[in-house]
Amino acid sequence: MVSVNKNYQKLPGSYLFSTIAKKVNAYQESHPGEKIIRLGIGDVTQPLVPAVISALHSAVDEMADAASFRGYAPDLGYAFLREVIAREDYQARGCRINADEIFISDGAKSDSGNIQEIFDRNSRIAVCDPVYPVYVDTNVMAGRTGSYNADRGNFDGVIYMPCRKENEFVPDLPEEVPDIIYLCFPNNPTGSAVSKDRLQEWVDYANRNGSVIIYDAAYEAYISTPGVPHSIYECEGAETCAIELRSFSKNAGFTGLRLGFTVVPKALIREGISLHGMWARRHGTKFNGAPYIVQRAGEAVYSSEGRQQLSEQVGYYMRNAGVILNGLRDAGYEVSGGVDAPYIWLRTPQGMTSWDFFDYLLNRAKVVGTPGSGFGAFGEGYFRLTAFGTYENTVEALERIRAL
Ligand code: MLT
Repeated sequence: MVSVNKNYQKLPGSYLFSTIAKKVNAYQESHPGEKIIRLGIGDVTQPLVPAVISALHSAVDEMADAASFRGYAPDLGYAFLREVIAREDYQARGCRINADEIFISDGAKSDSGNIQEIFDRNSRIAVCDPVYPVYVDTNVMAGRTGSYNADRGNFDGVIYMPCRKENEFVPDLPEEVPDIIYLCFPNNPTGSAVSKDRLQEWVDYANRNGSVIIYDAAYEAYISTPGVPHSIYECEGAETCAIELRSFSKNAGFTGLRLGFTVVPKALIREGISLHGMWARRHGTKFNGAPYIVQRAGEAVYSSEGRQQLSEQVGYYMRNAGVILNGLRDAGYEVSGGVDAPYIWLRTPQGMTSWDFFDYLLNRAKVVGTPGSGFGAFGEGYFRLTAFGTYENTVEALERIRAL
């Protein structure tokens, strides 16, 4: 009789956004014709920009011609994309990252879930609380945690780093030293940003203790505040302690197209072993490369037209963020985020739990958000709204919330 991976049994319920989708679909079925405004999952609504569309069309035409047809992509990614990323995202910012340290993938969600595979099963992980659920859940599946503690609302064996108003939603350095530290800035879900000085403290801490930081920078395109780093490699010494995850989903609307990349510097060595070599081995074995067409679309993101069009698109979403932030503030809510990130984090009114507020908002305003407790125990009493809706729906959602 086969034995299954019992670690899956430790996971409570279904994945956060699947739970929300089920609830919203059930509500819609029982209230047909009602207009529900979805500001829950951080999925984009604006179409791909013309520069990307044109690159997609050309790449499709190449695939239709025997002379330019491409089969399997190089499993670490095409040089044309890795080179432009190294140049524009890193070297232009003074980071010492080269093209051969960049691994193209089908998105940051897969990479953030898979990266834990290269670490020992007994490694101790530290995560922010609240946190993007993928980091914890994938470590649970891998058997790197204890059981779920329903009273505490989290897993035994994980170092949770509270992110609260008091620390501006940026965690303090943990006393108990973790092996792997997950950080995400600008942050999902709180929308907080980290200054370069504070991030440098994390880099120094990791280098001092031999820990590895997994730095999720999926939302870096939303940074507008000077002094907020776009990459962890802007910090001195990060090449010897950090892996960075990046996405094309939020900066270029690729949630449905799928493209991302991970940077594993060659200088990142633990126990005499190159993590770059391990990730290359893992990638080569389990991944056949992101599609050529999509990688060409990714390249177009860095063209001058692509940059211009995407900066307007980011501006569009950040205008929504302003509408949410100001609308909620005017309505008397305690809010944060929404300045360097497309997420707004609000305190639920009158001590409501996060899920009570979810139901209240759905039933009374027909607006969907994400309950803070779905991101961790310290998210209880909070709620997340995303700026990725259309402008018209965002304005309408805020009118409805203010009318409550
Ligand atoms: C979110 O809503 O937190 C994001 O859409 C999740 C993701 O990018 O996978």
